[in-house]
Amino acid sequence: MVVLGIETSCDETAAALVEDAAGRWSIKSNVVASQVDIHREWGGVVPELASRQHVRDMCGVVERALGDAEARWDDVDAIAVTQGPGLVGSLLVGVSFAKAASWALNKPLVAVNHLAGHIESIWLEHGPIALPAIILVVSGGHTSLYLVKSEGHYELLGRTRDDAAGEAYDKVAKLLSLGYPGGPIIDRLAASGNETAIRWPGTRLTNPDRNAPERDGRFDFSFSGLKTAVLRHVRQRQAQLGVDTLPQNEINDLAASFQRRVVETLIDKAFAAARWYGAKSIGFAGGVSANSRLRREALAKSERSEIPVYIPRLSLSTDNAAMIAAAGLRQLGAGRIAAADLNAAASLPL
Ligand code: KG4
Ligand code: ZN
Repeated sequence: MVVLGIETSCDETAAALVEDAAGRWSIKSNVVASQVDIHREWGGVVPELASRQHVRDMCGVVERALGDAEARWDDVDAIAVTQGPGLVGSLLVGVSFAKAASWALNKPLVAVNHLAGHIESIWLEHGPIALPAIILVVSGGHTSLYLVKSEGHYELLGRTRDDAAGEAYDKVAKLLSLGYPGGPIIDRLAASGNETAIRWPGTRLTNPDRNAPERDGRFDFSFSGLKTAVLRHVRQRQAQLGVDTLPQNEINDLAASFQRRVVETLIDKAFAAARWYGAKSIGFAGGVSANSRLRREALAKSERSEIPVYIPRLSLSTDNAAMIAAAGLRQLGAGRIAAADLNAAASLPL
């Protein structure tokens, strides 16, 4: 069984072929056309530019995914596409392409939630992991903690009340005029900074999420307070020094101190949830799981606490279509096929 995965939820046009041979998943190809150079100029993703670029790149990316796998259209058994969440104009490009391909080939269409894709990237990389598992999806759009008791079933334990962790990285980088996307840049600068240089105020999460009263908020996140603290610190130092741009060593210290707080929060909550639910493993997925400190600290804590931690390789952490094909295989296994009137859903819940 070979699934063609298609992903266009944000600023990456991606296609991949993933094969399921007796329950073992293997990546045959994984092609990503990044639009980051287009959006960098604007300091963030411009939705209209993103959807237009997806239209330009879609066919070529799929052809390359077939070519890299030395496969032909006939070899494709099903097509899995990201239905949401994401930018609606961008999603529509992938969904329309997938529907057309499914109709032309007479092969089943599978609708995938982008977050399920990030979660399944862990199974795609590592194979079956011990359950129950705690999975933290941490990206530019999401910081969501899940409990997985059985494969393919995701129970939301908590999520961010405001900014996603990656969004906080991107906003702090923008504030310091460091460029876009901010995560990798801050990660790099943090390596030369003093992580204890700046003390940030504590984050308090007092009220449960009013939109989700069934959750008590214990495993929710909030990054907007930290972002505001960074803004205040930068404005104060700029005024004290009488400069627009802070000296490089101060920027490095800020990056290191900011990164320490974000990563500690993510790791602490994931391990706390694992203890609370008696989980046998922990996974980190999504663009921010590419972070060097998060990888290092999570694996170190894994050794100390004797609970295995799984993080996919970088090309499966950031947005890609192999994870969408994997989540598609999970759907196919459960017999869930999408109808021909499938539509994109910008805020599709998981
Ligand atoms: O999963 P992803 O590629 O797209 C979304 O679904 O959002 O994640 C992108 C996010 C961006 O906010 C980017 O700044 C962040 O992941 N990111 C990182 C690193 N690499 C990417 N954040 C921290 N450290 C990194 N090394
Ligand atoms: Zn993503």
